Amino acid sequence: MKEYTQQINFTDELKARIRELISRYPAEHKKSALLPVLHAVQDAHDNWLSVPLMDKVAEILEIKPIEVYEVVTFYTMYNQKPMGKYMLEFCRTTCCAIQRGEDLMEYTCNKLGIKPGETTPDGMFSVVGVECLGACGYGPMLQLGDYYHEHLTEEKIDALLEDCRQGKVNLH
Ligand code: FES
Repeated sequence: MKEYTQQINFTDELKARIRELISRYPAEHKKSALLPVLHAVQDAHDNWLSVPLMDKVAEILEIKPIEVYEVVTFYTMYNQKPMGKYMLEFCRTTCCAIQRGEDLMEYTCNKLGIKPGETTPDGMFSVVGVECLGACGYGPMLQLGDYYHEHLTEEKIDALLEDCRQGKVNLH
């Protein structure tokens, strides 16, 4: 497996954010802040979490590194390697699957010349399959950044990719 290195930088802003997240829970249950802290740390580190970065989170929350690894490897919203600027998360669960969700993910992969889980060489796009995103009545669908793209078709995907390339797509 390819090794990636990550610049770790806990800015004052990130540290303050982490302190605020931890303060939401009883002092003896710092670990309860794990998920939101991981989101904050990932957001501040190019959308992925290296092992040294996960170890740092464990140190901050005073838990064992394995407790962080377990969570990061379970949830698809945490990335363990660098991802593309535009991460297309296709729902692959039943409602979307029976409406051609898998076909559309394959269509997108073929267009981009990558396989699910991979990133284009220019670092622009990643395609990943994820479990139900709670928009089952609007499938097939994908998540891109904070937004859902629903009732997908090949034409909608073509337009979305083009908008991404032209910098017209907001992620947050
Ligand atoms: S099955 Fe796709 S959003 Fe629920």
